[in-house]
Amino acid sequence: MLCIRKGNRAAILSAVLERIKMRTIEWVNGKVKLIDQTLLPGKLKHVYVTTVPQMIDAIKTMKVRGAPAIGVAAAFGCVLGSDNLNETARKLIASRPTAVNLKWGVERMLRVGSRAKGQGSRRLKALLLEEALKLAEEDVQTNKLIGFYGNKLIKKGMNILTVCNAGALATVDYGTALGVIRAAHEAGKKIHVYPAETRPRLQGAKLTAWELKQGKIPFTLITDNMIAYHMQQGKIDIVVTGADRIARNGDTANKIGTYSAAVLAKVHGIPFYIAAPFSTIDLKTKTGKDIVIEERDPAEVTNIGRERIAPTNIKVANPAFDVTPAKYITGIITEKGILKPNKIS
Ligand code: MRU
Repeated sequence: MLCIRKGNRAAILSAVLERIKMRTIEWVNGKVKLIDQTLLPGKLKHVYVTTVPQMIDAIKTMKVRGAPAIGVAAAFGCVLGSDNLNETARKLIASRPTAVNLKWGVERMLRVGSRAKGQGSRRLKALLLEEALKLAEEDVQTNKLIGFYGNKLIKKGMNILTVCNAGALATVDYGTALGVIRAAHEAGKKIHVYPAETRPRLQGAKLTAWELKQGKIPFTLITDNMIAYHMQQGKIDIVVTGADRIARNGDTANKIGTYSAAVLAKVHGIPFYIAAPFSTIDLKTKTGKDIVIEERDPAEVTNIGRERIAPTNIKVANPAFDVTPAKYITGIITEKGILKPNKIS
């Protein structure tokens, strides 16, 4: 019988647990296994994606969402469409325009494609898969580092506001803004979180609240229009959100409503941090004005779930993101440390 010393046993057990832990995106037997985020918190169900059109649909309909998660999903999409890599890449990049991680992930795959030229389709697919798996693994490690650096900003007993979902669900695992929160909670800092519900898709209410509950992290759900009230009441000490694209000058696109939270934080003297990997920084985009903002289906605004709440035949706007100017951002928490928004390049 194999005899394992006590210390080793604990290390092996934690490594095994780490491996079997559920991830948002996985490659399983030639298929991409995704948590269908449109069904949460009611149902935790996976979908298996086997074709490029299915992956594009999963990204567009937000079965998979969040900047790093769609970057990794698109990378796996490139494996599925390796027979026609350039066309696959073009279609995947066009599926959602704002989060630069999507383009970044696909471009990494294209670079592998050019290096593998002339090596045959099986070899190309194997190399693409290797790269996509590496990307997924790197994402988890990156988030843990973001958590490590971000945790240094969190003091015992702090109340933290976050917008949308920048958690395990928005990444492969652990999360960016929620990674910071997770790290502070794991460090026993007795923090408390205010997730804003995030109309119209309700990622805060549906996904962040679900993740916080799962992680046993104390929280109070608020609607977006309760942010000012809670700040005025002295109930929020720090804001930490994710990002979809950070321009060279530090202007940052994130979920619609982030900008107003940042302005409110400034007015109330509350530090406002963005937590994001370097893959979200887009040096080719000079300022926030150059970021394309995705406009989504008006039905997301006129309806809540299946119920229509607005009159028919009306004009509706539905920008999915807004841009927070760099001047409202205290710092950007990355896997390499905390950057001043005006010191990116
Ligand atoms: O439209 P979504 O749900 O994809 O928007 C997600 C966000 O805005 C997140 O805050 C951002 O992608 C960072 S996720 C780590």
